[in-house]
Amino acid sequence: MSSAATAVATSSEPMTAVPVTAPIQAHIEQTIEDLLASLPDAEQLSPEARRGILARYTAVLEGNFIYWMTGAYLAVGSDEARAKIIDNLREEVRDCHPGMLRRFAIAAHALPTEDDAQAVYRKLSAVRLFIGRLSPVPIVVTMAFFEGFIQRFMPYLAGLARRQGSTEMEYTDVHGVCDVTHTQELYNALQSEMALTGPVPVDEMLEGVGILRALLQNIVFNAN
Ligand SMILES: [Fe+2]
Repeated sequence: MSSAATAVATSSEPMTAVPVTAPIQAHIEQTIEDLLASLPDAEQLSPEARRGILARYTAVLEGNFIYWMTGAYLAVGSDEARAKIIDNLREEVRDCHPGMLRRFAIAAHALPTEDDAQAVYRKLSAVRLFIGRLSPVPIVVTMAFFEGFIQRFMPYLAGLARRQGSTEMEYTDVHGVCDVTHTQELYNALQSEMALTGPVPVDEMLEGVGILRALLQNIVFNAN
């Protein structure tokens, strides 16, 4: 990561052949691949283990995603990043994604219990505090990681719900669409934000990715 770090930290010229975001995008994509490769085989999981993943996912996402996106909106300074985030927030609210997720959890008999909420409490708090720092570039990087991961995670989540007897798949269908334009816009927004902020050390830029990855692992493996 150190050569990528140097490239990112020192490259602030807007007109380079390789986008300044390229090393970050590569790091995020590798983190997503590693996380997906580590997922337990849904077929081998017990019904309670499957329910736990669905419930912990719901406990985290239902009440927090809009808070995270709002934090990102408050943090960023570039018009491009603001426009991208506001599009996302509008869709979340207009189409009531928290309600969609709740229906998904109800249909899979996986509503979060007190134990499920407790299981993710510490790692979720760490993400909340990270968002609360309102650091523009690290937040946009974390958002890019999250969006990239979620869309690839949806088939797995849908598979867990199906094995729990559910046929309610609106949430996973809506979030599982692979949208190349959307991803590109997100990295364009990151580039604008980086141009505005100036060089950010790579460790700082990736801090939120590490914190959020730990929470996602907590959801899947229930190891906190
Ligand atoms: Fe959503």
